[in-house]
Amino acid sequence: MKIATVTLNPAIDQTVQVDHFRPNTVNYAMSMLFDAGGKGINVASFLADAGLTPAVTGFLGQENADTFERFFASKRIEDQFVRIPGRTRIGVKIVDEANQQTTDINMPGLPPTTEAMHDLYQAIERLAASCDWFVLSGTLPPGVPVTTYASLITLLKQHGKQVVLDTSREALYEGLQAGPTIVKPNVDELRQLTGQALSDDLALEQAARQLLDRGIQLVVISMGERGALFVDSATTLLAIPPRVMVKSTVGAGDAMVAGLLAGHARGLSLPDCARLATAFSLGAITRIGSHLPAPDVMQSYFQQVSINAITSTNTPAGVPRSVSL
Ligand SMILES: Nc1ncnc2c1ncn2[C@@H]1O[C@H](COP(=O)(O)OP(=O)(O)OP(=O)(O)O)[C@@H](O)[C@H]1O
Ligand SMILES: [Mg+2]
Repeated sequence: MKIATVTLNPAIDQTVQVDHFRPNTVNYAMSMLFDAGGKGINVASFLADAGLTPAVTGFLGQENADTFERFFASKRIEDQFVRIPGRTRIGVKIVDEANQQTTDINMPGLPPTTEAMHDLYQAIERLAASCDWFVLSGTLPPGVPVTTYASLITLLKQHGKQVVLDTSREALYEGLQAGPTIVKPNVDELRQLTGQALSDDLALEQAARQLLDRGIQLVVISMGERGALFVDSATTLLAIPPRVMVKSTVGAGDAMVAGLLAGHARGLSLPDCARLATAFSLGAITRIGSHLPAPDVMQSYFQQVSINAITSTNTPAGVPRSVSL
């Protein structure tokens, strides 16, 4: 199973470690790193650590593409990015390990030209010859239509491809109309989408079920440290992570998408895919940068995830009932 990830608005992550970070004063950093970032690139990086050889595409500013090129080479990731004039944006992440907090400063990104958009569609058509799954992740760059993911999903479905969509706001709303195979909103993204408070698991599950009605096969709602709900037509599973020492929550959701697909590539059942997806997220948040820890650590995370089947039908007062598997 070959996977391609699409990142239209990547960023170089500048991670600055500052314990007890405070605004409006001078802070002293302990270390600083520049990493190739962007959600689809993170997904590809986690997949590469799991032994898969993903391809990546999207747009890269040609003036600082070398950071990405070195990274792709080091991870044996197939680089099919379209180069555009200018510099890829830098996103600053201030990681405060002492307070277990991360502060992000994001920039809008480079607008691609019409010609670059054309090159992107060509790159994706080319990748469709060898890849079975496509991951469309992250925000859209300025200047591209909000329906871009919807158009890509429609094109990929015409080629018989499976698509994971992980984005927010209008791009998510529009993309869902085209019926991706899997969608992974977090709770905020689902709230924005539905306009509802979604204050308990039952409400979240029902919102996910409504998405399934549109031909989407699996909805994964990630809920930060509370874990994630995996909802398909037959089941709802709640995957609960163990407590861990968080280094940086950057890429937790991207790791979840990667783990889900890695599980699918290995032919795992939905409960084991949910377990592996959560283990990937744990791997991501206990390290800085989009890398998984060593296999023995991953194995131990996998075993520490608890999977509960939620039965929300036929229960008195509609209260979800948890059953340990
Ligand atoms: N503090 C934490 N402790 C344990 N597990 C966590 C924690 N934060 C996140 N996770 C795991 O990572 C998964 C994805 O995290 P989250 O819901 O924050 O994704 P997200 O908001 O999409 O993140 P991203 O910023 O990557 O888009 C969660 O479902 C959970 O399994
Ligand atoms: Mg996310």
